[in-house]
Amino acid sequence: MKPFALEGDVAVVTGAASGIGREIAKTFAREGAAVACFDKNVQGLASVTAEIETAGGRALPVALDLSDSSQVNAAMQQVFETFGKLTILINCAALINYKPVQDTTDEDFHRLIDTNLCGYFYCLRAAYPYLKQSGGGRIVQFSSSTALSGSGFANIGYTASKSAAIGMTKHVAGLWAKDNIRANTICPGLTETPITDAGDGKVKDRAAHEAAIPMGRIAQPGDMAGVVLFLVSDESRYMTGTTLHVNGGKYMYGI
Ligand SMILES: NC(=O)c1ccc[n+]([C@@H]2O[C@H](COP(=O)([O-])OP(=O)(O)OC[C@H]3O[C@@H](n4cnc5c(N)ncnc54)[C@H](O)[C@@H]3O)[C@@H](O)[C@H]2O)c1
Repeated sequence: MKPFALEGDVAVVTGAASGIGREIAKTFAREGAAVACFDKNVQGLASVTAEIETAGGRALPVALDLSDSSQVNAAMQQVFETFGKLTILINCAALINYKPVQDTTDEDFHRLIDTNLCGYFYCLRAAYPYLKQSGGGRIVQFSSSTALSGSGFANIGYTASKSAAIGMTKHVAGLWAKDNIRANTICPGLTETPITDAGDGKVKDRAAHEAAIPMGRIAQPGDMAGVVLFLVSDESRYMTGTTLHVNGGKYMYGI
């Protein structure tokens, strides 16, 4: 078998309609996994599913709001009933805003937490019995370099949720290792996707961003998808509870 082959795997990828999640869904399908694409963006789901199927892969579009646990439970059940197993969960979907702390309303804060933190919890909880029944699996959760730096521009709710993702990963990695389930976190640096175009966070001064990165460029979604593929492949079989920083060397000198 090829080193990163995913034949026989069934993956749930949240946030699969856009950006990094979309690239992960396509990468997994290319490597032979059946991919359930979870997102609230119906149009984006239709196009990623069509792209995967045109390339000869298998994809199931599932439109849902990840901040609603009953929708998450039903979606995970649908995946298991459709494919007969579940072996990979990628918690990638997230919201962001760029308001300073003093302008952040209760509603703003809860909105980010409901998707970025509660949504990850709902997916972990709903996936666990199916991963167990499938003989084990692999989980990758998306944090951010924001969890390392505190971030000058992403909102406090975003930073809090991304820090929490690391702790949640370690929590389940320890508890579920006995079930043959591995869980790891990836912390991307700035990556060119629609999320970076939102509001004031627009990548306005690309040259300034890139000057601060030793490798001299911001990331592309494929730079993250490759690391996630490694984390779900058998090549990383002795890794669990770890946090991988993928940022072109940006934080190696401190912040
Ligand atoms: N792009 C970056 O610079 C960057 C940097 C560090 C970390 N990350 C992390 O990488 C992950 C992917 O980010 P991206 O840049 O690809 O973002 P993106 O905006 O391109 O994609 C996020 C997807 O999540 C979906 N989504 C959001 N809330 C949802 C909800 N409640 N229910 C269902 N779907 C929902 C959106 O519809 C969208 O398709 C996120 O966890 C993000 O925090 C991104």
